[in-house]
Amino acid sequence: MIQISTDINKAKQILENEGLVAIPTETVYGLAGNIYSEKAINNIFKTKNRPKHNPLIVHIHSINLLNKIAKEIPEKAKILAEKFWPGSITLVLKKKDTIPNSITAGKDTVAVRVPDHPLTLELLKKLDFPLAAPSANPFGSISPTTSQHVANYFKDSLEMVIEGGACNNGIESTIVGFENEEVILYRLGSISVEEIESIVGTIKIKNKNDKSPNAPGMLSRHYAPKTKTILTQNIKAEINNYPNSKIGVLLFNDLNLNENNIEKEILSNNGNLKEASTKLYAAMHRLDKKGLDIIIAEKFPENDLGKSINDRLERATKN
Ligand code: TXA
Ligand code: MG
Repeated sequence: MIQISTDINKAKQILENEGLVAIPTETVYGLAGNIYSEKAINNIFKTKNRPKHNPLIVHIHSINLLNKIAKEIPEKAKILAEKFWPGSITLVLKKKDTIPNSITAGKDTVAVRVPDHPLTLELLKKLDFPLAAPSANPFGSISPTTSQHVANYFKDSLEMVIEGGACNNGIESTIVGFENEEVILYRLGSISVEEIESIVGTIKIKNKNDKSPNAPGMLSRHYAPKTKTILTQNIKAEINNYPNSKIGVLLFNDLNLNENNIEKEILSNNGNLKEASTKLYAAMHRLDKKGLDIIIAEKFPENDLGKSINDRLERATKN
C-alpha cells in the first residue's frame, strides 16, 4: 500500500536503496529514482509502462550542479537557468559521459531542471545523486497534480508519495534545446513562449513531430482521459450533438448552459490563464471519474499559457 507522507528522511532512505518515490514539484508530481541506479531507472519505465526510447528529465537542486550533468552550457541556456530556476523550464544540453544512457534513451543530450518545491528541494539537497522524474502517471494518461492522483494510479505499485499539496503551476515544464545559438522549443509548458522570448529573443517552435518524437509529450495522443473527450470553439453547438448523453464540460470562463444534467468544470472565473492551467488536470481527473459519455472541452485563446493549455487539450482529445 502506498504511503502519503511528508517524511523526507523516509523518502531519502527509499531512494538510497534504489527504490522509487513520487515527489511534488510546482508543475506536476514526478516518479523519482536515483539517476545512477539501473534498477531504479528500469523500475520507473516499468511502473509507468513507458516506452524505453522516451528519455527522462534529471532534477537537481541548484544551477551550480549543472556542470556535473552537462558537457557544454550555451550562453542562452545559462541566461534562462538563471532567470527561471528553480522553476518550470527544462534545458536539453549535451550530456556528460557520466550520465547513464538509460536516462537519455541513448541520446547525446540530457534534459535537466531545478524544480520549485520546498520539500523536493530539501530532499534533493539531502541526496548525493540527482533524481530522474517523469510525471507520475501511467504513460499517456492525465498527469497528477495532487498526491491523491498519484495514489489513485499507483496504490499497489509504489511505496511512497511525498505530500506536497496541489501543484502551483499544474502543467509540465517547458522544454527547450539549443541549436547553433538558437533556442528551440520542444514542449510547450508552464512558462510561456512570450516569457522566454522576452529574455532571449525569438525562439523556434518544434513541438509537433509525431514520427520521431524529441519529447513523448509531443506524441499526438497524450494526457488523455479514459472518457471520450473532444475540443471545440463552440460548446453550446457541440452539446446539441450529444442528446441523451451524460456530458461533462471543461470551460475557461463560466457559461450559462440552461441544462442541469451537465457536469461543469470552470477553470477560471475571471479569465486568468495561470489559474486555468493550475486547475486543468485536476478538473480532467474529476470529470474522468464521473462515468460520463463525453467530455467537451473549450478551446483556449492562443496566447501565453493558453497555447500550452490548448496543446494539452489537443493531445488529450486525439484519437
Ligand atoms: O514538469 C515536468 O517536466 C515534470 C516534472 C516531474 O518535472 N516532468 C515531466 O517528465 O513532465 P516527462 O517524463 O513526463 O516528460 C519529459 C519530457 C519528455 O517529453 C521527454 O521526451 C523529454 O522530456 N526529454 C527528455 N530528455 C530529452 C532529450 N534529451 N531531448 C529532448 N527531449 C527530452
Ligand atoms: Mg509525462
